Amino acid sequence: MCGIVGYIGPRDATPIILNGLKRLEYRGYDSAGLAIVVEDRIEVRRDAGKLARLEELVRAEPVSGAPGIGHTRWATHGSPSVRNAHPHRGSNGRVVVVHNGIVENFLELRDELRAEGVQFSSDTDTETIVHLVEHHLAIGHDLTEAARRTFGQLQGAHGIVLMSADEPDKIVCARIGNAGGVVLGLGEGENFIASDIPAILDHTRQVVFLESRQMAVVRREGVEITSLDGVPVTMRGNVIAWDAAAAEKGEYRHFMQKEIHEQVRSLTDTLAGRVDLHEGRIRLPELNLTPDQACRIRRILITACGTAAYAGMVGKILIEKIARIPVEVQIGSEFRYSDPIVDENTVVLAISQSGETADTLAAMEEGRRKGAVLWSIVNVVGSQAMRISDGSISMQTGPEIGVASTKAFTAPLVDQYMLAILLADLRGTLDEKTRRALVADLRLIPDLAGRTLEREAEVEKVAWALKDVRDCLYLGRGINMPIAYEGALKLKEISYIHAEGYPAGEMKHGPIALIDENMPVVCLAPKDPWHEKMISQIQQARARGGTVIAVATDGDEVVADQADHVLWVPVTPWMLSPVVTAIPLQMLAYHIAAIRGLDVDQPRNLAKSVTVE
Ligand code: M6R
Repeated sequence: MCGIVGYIGPRDATPIILNGLKRLEYRGYDSAGLAIVVEDRIEVRRDAGKLARLEELVRAEPVSGAPGIGHTRWATHGSPSVRNAHPHRGSNGRVVVVHNGIVENFLELRDELRAEGVQFSSDTDTETIVHLVEHHLAIGHDLTEAARRTFGQLQGAHGIVLMSADEPDKIVCARIGNAGGVVLGLGEGENFIASDIPAILDHTRQVVFLESRQMAVVRREGVEITSLDGVPVTMRGNVIAWDAAAAEKGEYRHFMQKEIHEQVRSLTDTLAGRVDLHEGRIRLPELNLTPDQACRIRRILITACGTAAYAGMVGKILIEKIARIPVEVQIGSEFRYSDPIVDENTVVLAISQSGETADTLAAMEEGRRKGAVLWSIVNVVGSQAMRISDGSISMQTGPEIGVASTKAFTAPLVDQYMLAILLADLRGTLDEKTRRALVADLRLIPDLAGRTLEREAEVEKVAWALKDVRDCLYLGRGINMPIAYEGALKLKEISYIHAEGYPAGEMKHGPIALIDENMPVVCLAPKDPWHEKMISQIQQARARGGTVIAVATDGDEVVADQADHVLWVPVTPWMLSPVVTAIPLQMLAYHIAAIRGLDVDQPRNLAKSVTVE
């Protein structure tokens, strides 16, 4: 979950690292630090808290040189403090390391090192890494070999970057397991290392992703990748299409707001080249799917976490309705422990913005182990989830920086709708007229999202009315039930207001006891097949004195009469309605958090990519 940046080349590493860390701060903001080789020594600057504190420190105590490495931390072992901030130095100060992941056997390793007389100066598991490297250097190995031997001793999943003042011509890094990516950025006479692409986009778009159990020796002139056993690996380069501006806030106050507004564009991009209106067909060549393979599928298991899992719940309804294939949704953290029934006729479909979420990757690995076909819907091109899949659909949303996921929620709704049509078409279970109508509806979606976004000012007014509430209930049914979960998650994660999403029909079985004048109830009541049922639910909430905020379709006077506030959405085909109903709830959560003066993009305790179990 931490952010890592490294630079080797002729330029001063300090601004490159600070700028890269700024782009990665969404990955962790408990502390930040950097280490720079200056002449024949290493200088370290680090501080607790956000990156701004480190920037202040560097202004007060400037440091320049190269190579250099930097880190933003999401604390696992040891409190967020200066002593636990990365980079960590070895005993003689000649070697430094930054790390993302957990050294699972660190207690054991620390005891062994202490027995050799090593003194620890932090509470972190990471510090064991640098002492182990020193140990191997002391017995005569060079940095590369010392690092390799150290990597072999570590249990758990890791991204590790280290360097030594005695071998300033190289930085050594490794990826072990699924602790988040290690990306090498290739420049001319200079090279970069990062845990995520935005950190290096200002400098290069040529990147190479390290696979698990690979390490790299990065020099000014080039990069050498080997397995941890020393076997050379042929590099497979990728060119990143995003530009650096895509990772800037621009005119918006927060990334989250910008990303909410980017949904017209992201939805347009996710449709581009995939919708054939003339033939009335969907094309997803990235899935490499033949009619024969499509016909063999007996079951689809969608696995994901958080917002992505709610997208999967919508997908279940779409795939079952359109393609008539049974679908289950299993959250990533439960999947591998549930002994899922999986065989070669099962597709495990992972949904992940980052493509690096540890629980989702573990679920995919479990699916692979049991012989399933692996598909993924992923935003970050080249991420682990994409690489290990048999077929993958790219969300095409561009970088999502705000910790609260928004545009990476709506794109996979559309991706799953397209997937459902494609599966039905290949299996021959959809008549042409229906297929053409479903495909034609897709072209409406960017415009419908745009019209929903135009109502931001009205949503903001409702946000002012709700800004001081302590609790909030979100109710939905059918295809909009997952949107109730998602709306509640958005509110709780950025505004710290307790919010619960609930299937509206279940309200009378318990949660109705909570409803009084202090409990606002957000009711998803667009014109979908569950509309009538939602109206009676709204009436029940009203009868208990709850303030009702309804998400309703333009012109729906019945709902308007029953609700205290209405968040209007345009008339939308019901299977695509979650795309538009999610948007006012994103804006509502955003504005409530912004009015409360909270750190919308970096909410407390959270990180963008959750790369620990
Ligand atoms: O990168 P992923 O989509 O796999 O991330 C999954 C969740 O961690 C993520 O959706 C999380 O719930 C967001 N903070 C929600 O806004």
